[in-house]
Amino acid sequence: MLTFDGFDTCRRFHNVLIVYCTDEYVLDMTIIKEAGMMDVKRRNFLKGGVASLAVASGLVGVDNQGVAEAATPQPENTYPTVDIAPLVSIPPGTEVAFDYPDEASPSVLLRLGKPAEGGIGPDKDIVAFSLLCTHKGCPLNYVADRKSLVCPCHWSSFDPSKGGRLVIGQASQSLPQMQLDIQDGMVRAVGLDGLIYGRHTNIL
Ligand code: FES
Repeated sequence: MLTFDGFDTCRRFHNVLIVYCTDEYVLDMTIIKEAGMMDVKRRNFLKGGVASLAVASGLVGVDNQGVAEAATPQPENTYPTVDIAPLVSIPPGTEVAFDYPDEASPSVLLRLGKPAEGGIGPDKDIVAFSLLCTHKGCPLNYVADRKSLVCPCHWSSFDPSKGGRLVIGQASQSLPQMQLDIQDGMVRAVGLDGLIYGRHTNIL
């Protein structure tokens, strides 16, 4: 048994390293070159009960029981496009709650009234963020007079005009920010920068 890169446990089959998470699902797989660990190159994260590996010139696929099988290309997870609100319905100062990329991820759109990092719209002032605090996942509140997203649990504060940057508090990371666009007058969420609290991947 090996340890590698902060993951829980690793097993080595021939020249392939497999990293397991606690629920036995394979999170990451890494090819070990003959030269050893120093040449390890990380590959894309995968999720599933059965591991399949890219096989290149002698590398083999194995399942989580260590049985060889053919490699299968894994589909890329892609973000959904979600309508949030018509542009005309969100004047400066507006706050719109929505979920993205799924119902378990509360989020908020804000029209700040002044240009913001990552802002869209005619005044580049429309932004959106995950509402789950990056400290321990409490849902944040937007405090308009402070122009901040504030956590009621341990009072971390995030600046929506600066890409959700942590201003003060127990958290150590900025908020995940939504990628937005406007199509036919509708403000939409189309992607996400940063990892939602409590997830290994934003798309489950
Ligand atoms: S959960 Fe938000 S600061 Fe602790």
